[in-house]
Amino acid sequence: MFVVNLTLENKMIELKKYYQSLNFVGSCCMAVTLPWIVFKVFRAIYLQRSHNSLIGKIVVITGASSGLGEALAHAFYKRGCQVVLCARRRQELDRVRTELLQTHCTVQTFPPIIIPLDLSEYNNLSQHVTKILSITGHIDILINNGGVSHRGHAVSTNVDVDMKIMLVNYFGSIALTKAVLPSMIKKNQGHVVFVSSIQGLVALPERSAYSASKHALQAFGDSLRAEVASKNISVTVASPGYIKTRLSLNALTGSGAAHGQMDKSTESGYSPEFVSERIFTAVARKEKELVISTMLPKVAIFLRKYLPALYFFAMEKRANKADFIEEATTK
Ligand SMILES: NC(=O)c1ccc[n+]([C@@H]2O[C@H](COP(=O)([O-])OP(=O)(O)OC[C@H]3O[C@@H](n4cnc5c(N)ncnc54)[C@H](OP(=O)(O)O)[C@@H]3O)[C@@H](O)[C@H]2O)c1
Ligand SMILES: *[C@@H]1O[C@H](CO)[C@@H](O)[C@H](O)[C@H]1NC(C)=O
Ligand SMILES: *[C@@H]1O[C@H](CO)[C@@H](O)[C@H](O)[C@H]1NC(C)=O
Repeated sequence: MFVVNLTLENKMIELKKYYQSLNFVGSCCMAVTLPWIVFKVFRAIYLQRSHNSLIGKIVVITGASSGLGEALAHAFYKRGCQVVLCARRRQELDRVRTELLQTHCTVQTFPPIIIPLDLSEYNNLSQHVTKILSITGHIDILINNGGVSHRGHAVSTNVDVDMKIMLVNYFGSIALTKAVLPSMIKKNQGHVVFVSSIQGLVALPERSAYSASKHALQAFGDSLRAEVASKNISVTVASPGYIKTRLSLNALTGSGAAHGQMDKSTESGYSPEFVSERIFTAVARKEKELVISTMLPKVAIFLRKYLPALYFFAMEKRANKADFIEEATTK
């Protein structure tokens, strides 16, 4: 009897201890999860608010006839922005506009405006901006997205091709920005976005012209950001990894011809919608820069900065491998 009682008592004490420890673990969990839940709720409210803060904004998007620019047009249009679609091909811009008008939206929408323009005609861009301003009155957000890529060795790339890529990706974008800025400064508000690339942070072989143009864009963006901060103008530089668009098909080879091939890396890249959503959020939250990529490119950016020898070595290997493939396919 006595033994039984003792074990029962022991059991009770054990149970009590167990219960207390559970209680302790429970309160620890609560101490962690409660703030986490509160954080999540506030974040959701904050995000919703910042998304709504873009309702009615006038957003000029270059390269809106295809790929990421087209997806950006959808992202901003469906949140109630008035989008101004710019690119060379009027027909494609018309197609995008028609598709936008057909989408079902939960907020009030504004009819998209089409402005055909060529970024390489940088002297004409201020006329296009004057035209946009005469229609809309002002510009809230400028997204410099239009661009062209490069495929080929530096030594066999015509300097005209280097210039063409620099003209579209860099000079065209900065000329448009310079044409838009005075109206933003006058209004004491605005936001300029530059769509750079991972290759604006780390250069790859066989992409010298493209990488150089995107590096230039990064530097321009950083410099401008500091200058216009006091004018209540934000600058966002977005650096995405591969996106499944027509970029590699439209890339220029050393002779200036279109590459005409869908590269494997581009084919297996992010969807344009995924990247455009990330950029939309970054604009809504006024993020200064964002890198949209998997782990490997982030490691490459880190290595380039802190362990450059390793990055140089990896790029050399990559270049040799590409040469081997090129030789094999031209034989
Ligand atoms: N795809 C990727 O893997 C990737 C990765 C990182 C960054 N990006 C960047 O994302 C941006 C959009 O490219 P995408 O991937 O969407 O390629 P895309 O499908 O080839 O689209 C390029 C856009 O730029 C426009 N464009 C090209 N040359 C132009 C010019 N001279 N004047 C005006 N517009 C011009 C094109 O329109 P028109 O032909 O009608 O003029 C088209 O709308 C580029 O800046 C690119 O560098 C792409
Ligand atoms: C654009 O500039 C080119 C020269 O760079 C000129 O020939 C053309 O007429 C201009 N277009 C417009 C619409 O002003
Ligand atoms: C700064 O710009 C934001 C919009 O981006 C605007 O809501 C705010 O009123 C502006 N602030 C001032 C002081 O003009």
